[in-house]
Amino acid sequence: MTHLFDPLTLRGLTLKNRIGVSPMCMYCCNGDGKPTEWHMMHLVPRAMGGAGLTMVEASAVTPEGRIAPGDVGIWGAQHIGPHAKLAAAIKRVGSVPAIQIAHAGRKGSRGPGWVHAPAQQPWTALAPSAAAFGDYATPQAMSEGDIAATIAAFAAAAKRSVAAGYELVELHAAHGYLLHEFLSPLSNQRNDSWGGDFAGRTRFVLECARAVRAALPDAMPMSVRISHTDWVEGGWTTEESVQLSALLKEAGADIIDVSSGGLDARQKIPLGPGYQVPGAIAVRQGAGLPVAAVGLITEPAQAQEIIETGKADLILLARVLLRDPYWPLRAAVALGRPEAISAPPQYERGWAALGKVGMNPAMGEPLEAL
Ligand SMILES: Cc1cc2nc3c(=O)[nH]c(=O)nc-3n(C[C@H](O)[C@H](O)[C@H](O)COP(=O)(O)O)c2cc1C
Repeated sequence: MTHLFDPLTLRGLTLKNRIGVSPMCMYCCNGDGKPTEWHMMHLVPRAMGGAGLTMVEASAVTPEGRIAPGDVGIWGAQHIGPHAKLAAAIKRVGSVPAIQIAHAGRKGSRGPGWVHAPAQQPWTALAPSAAAFGDYATPQAMSEGDIAATIAAFAAAAKRSVAAGYELVELHAAHGYLLHEFLSPLSNQRNDSWGGDFAGRTRFVLECARAVRAALPDAMPMSVRISHTDWVEGGWTTEESVQLSALLKEAGADIIDVSSGGLDARQKIPLGPGYQVPGAIAVRQGAGLPVAAVGLITEPAQAQEIIETGKADLILLARVLLRDPYWPLRAAVALGRPEAISAPPQYERGWAALGKVGMNPAMGEPLEAL
C-alpha cells in the first residue's frame, strides 16, 4: 500500500514524498518578470516545510502571456539567473524545484489577483478566438504565425527552465488560460485546423507538449495541469480530459495535474473537500498515467487516503500551505512517519517535541553571495 511519505519516481526524478507546493501567483515582480526577494521568502519556507516538490508559480513564456504586469516570466535569457537562485534555494532546503510555464491568453492584461480590474497599462491579449472572458477586454484571435511563435516560446521557456536548474516542468493547460482556451468549445470558435472537433481543439496543447518534451532532457519529467471540466453545459468535459491525457502521455507527459474550471464565468463548481479528486481518478484510470490531485485537500488523513487507495500519485497543496508551510512536517508526525522527513538542525528544538525528525546540513551561504 502506497504511503503519502513514500517516494515517487517520474522518469529520472525521485521525490522524497508525495506532497507538492502547488503553483501560486504572487504578482510581485517589478514589471520585468524576474523573480524577487518575495519569491524567496514565499517559497523557501514551504520547501523547508517538507514538501517533496515545490513548484514556482505560472511563469509567462511571453510578456503578453502574463496575467498581470507583476507575473513571473521565463521569456528571456535575463530570467535564467534569478530563477537559478530560486531553484538552488529550494533544493538546498531539501525540496525538488519545479516551474509551471504558462500563457494567460484572454485572461491576461489584468491587475494583480486581488485587484479585479484591467492592468493599468493594458495590452492586447491573444486567444484562439476574439471572444472575451466575462467582462474582460475582447482578445485578438491568434494568427497561424502567433500560434507557431507561441509554441516556440513554450519550448524556449522549457530550455531556460532546465538552464535555471528546475527538475520538473509543468505546462499550464488549466484555469481558462491560453492552452485551456484552445481545448474548450466555449472559448475556441475557430473553424481552421486549430479548432472545431476534438482533434482540432486539442492540437495546440499537444503541439506545445511535444515541443516542451523535445526541449527537456530525457530524464526530466513533464507535467501538464488541466481543468478536467469547465463545469458549464456545452464546455470541456472529463471524458475529453481522459482522451487528451492519453494523447499527452504519448506526447511525453509523465504526470497530469488535475484541476478544474476557470474558463467560463457561468461555472457552477461543487466545492467541498477533495472536490477535484474524481477528475484525477478518471484520468488515472482512463489514461493510465500518474496524476496529481489538488483542491481543498487539507488534512493529513485525507491526503493519505487519496494516495493509499490509488486515487492519485501526488498531492498538491496551495492555500493550506499559505496558512501553514510546515503542513508536511506535521503530517509526517500525524501519520506516524516522522523519519521520512527532515527539519533543519537549527530547528531541531522546535520539532523534537513532536517526534524524531531527520537532519539537513546547516546552511551558511553569506547573504551577499546570494
Ligand atoms: C494565491 C494563489 C495563487 C495561485 N496561482 C496559481 C498558478 O500560478 N497556477 C496554477 O495553476 N494555479 C494557481 N492557483 C491554484 C492553486 O495552485 C490550487 O490549484 C488551488 O488553490 C486549489 O488548491 P487548494 O485548495 O489547496 O488551495 C493559485 C491559488 C492561490 C491560492
